[in-house]
Amino acid sequence: MLTIDHVCKTFGTHTVLRDVCLQIDRGCVLGLAGPSGEGKSTLLRCIQGLETVDSGSITCAGRVGFMFQDFQLFPHMSVLENVLYAPLLRAKGKIAQKTCMEKGEELLKHLDMWGLRNRYPQQLSGGQKQRVALARSLVLNPDLLLCDEPTSGLDVAMLSDVVALLHSLREEHTTMAIASHDLSFLVQISDRIIILRRGCIAADIGPERFGDLPQLASSLFG
Ligand SMILES: Nc1ncnc2c1ncn2[C@@H]1O[C@H](COP(=O)(O)OP(=O)(O)O)[C@@H](O)[C@H]1O
Ligand SMILES: [Mg+2]
Repeated sequence: MLTIDHVCKTFGTHTVLRDVCLQIDRGCVLGLAGPSGEGKSTLLRCIQGLETVDSGSITCAGRVGFMFQDFQLFPHMSVLENVLYAPLLRAKGKIAQKTCMEKGEELLKHLDMWGLRNRYPQQLSGGQKQRVALARSLVLNPDLLLCDEPTSGLDVAMLSDVVALLHSLREEHTTMAIASHDLSFLVQISDRIIILRRGCIAADIGPERFGDLPQLASSLFG
C-alpha cells in the first residue's frame, strides 16, 4: 500500500528524518509513537506530500487522506459545508454531486454529527470538531488515512468514542497511520507500532510485544 524508501528530511541544519524505510500493507493500522519533536508529524506530512523529501522516495498505491492535529476546519463554513467543500469541487455533474451529498450525510450520521450539521466550528466542542475533521477526510474515500494526534485535547469519554470510531474504520479495512505520543491509545488501536527516535525507526513491533512497550519507551527516552 505504502512504501517509504530511505527518506531523509531536514529543516535548515536540523535533520528530522534520517534514512527512514517503512512499508505499510493494505488494511494495516500502523501506530507511530514517540514523544513530541521526534518527527512523527513530519513523516505524515511527507507521506501526504505536504512536505518534500530531501532524498529517498515515498510511493502510495491510492488516495491519501489526512486528519490534522488542529482539525483545520474552515471557520466560516458550517459542519456540512466543511465536509462537502472538497468533494463538491471535484464532482462533475448533478449525479456526482448528489453522491457526494449522500456520502457526507451518511458519514455525519455515522459520527452522530448530522444534528449539528448547520453549526459552525466555533460552536463545537473539541471532540465534535474531531469528528467533523474525520468526516471531511473520509468523504474523499481515502485508501490510506493519516491521523495526526487524533486524541489530543479529548476528555476520557471522547477518547473512547474516537477509539471506537477508529476501530470501526479498521473493520472496514481502511489502512491507517496514526501518530500519537500516547502509547496506551496506540496499543488499543494498532496492528503494529513503530517508535521514532531522532528521526530513525528505533523499534518496529507487533501486538505480541506491545506489553514490552512502556519499558522499551522508557529505555529509549529515559
Ligand atoms: N516547517 C518546519 N520548519 C522547521 N522545523 C520544523 C518544521 N516542522 C517541524 N520542524 C521541526 O522538526 C522536528 C520534528 O517535528 P514534528 O515532526 O512536528 O515532531 P512530532 O510530530 O513528533 O512532535 C521538531 O524539532 C520541529 O521543531
Ligand atoms: Mg506532531
